[in-house]
Amino acid sequence: MIRVCAVEDVPPGEGRNVSVGDLRLAVFRTDSGWYATEAGCPHMQGPLADGIVADASVICPLHERRFSLQTGAEINGSLCVKTYRAVVHRDDVYILADVPVLAGA
Ligand code: FES
Repeated sequence: MIRVCAVEDVPPGEGRNVSVGDLRLAVFRTDSGWYATEAGCPHMQGPLADGIVADASVICPLHERRFSLQTGAEINGSLCVKTYRAVVHRDDVYILADVPVLAGA
């Protein structure tokens, strides 16, 4: 597990950009739990963390494509954003990453 931010860094119902080593992520705090995706929308790299979060999905602020935060799949489309499993332990948020990331970076 890799720590990505503190719980208090992400207000309820919103997303925030975080960087861990070379990895750029968007972390989301929703009514149904915490989610993490790569930061850039797979369409044209829109900032997903700035999108509207609802029903475990995010709407990209640039062209309003909507992605499931659970699967990364575009809803009503064929694109897919990479997702990471996000978990909370005490006051911090972690991801289970399958890529090399410098811990503590
Ligand atoms: S950049 Fe996200 S929908 Fe176009």
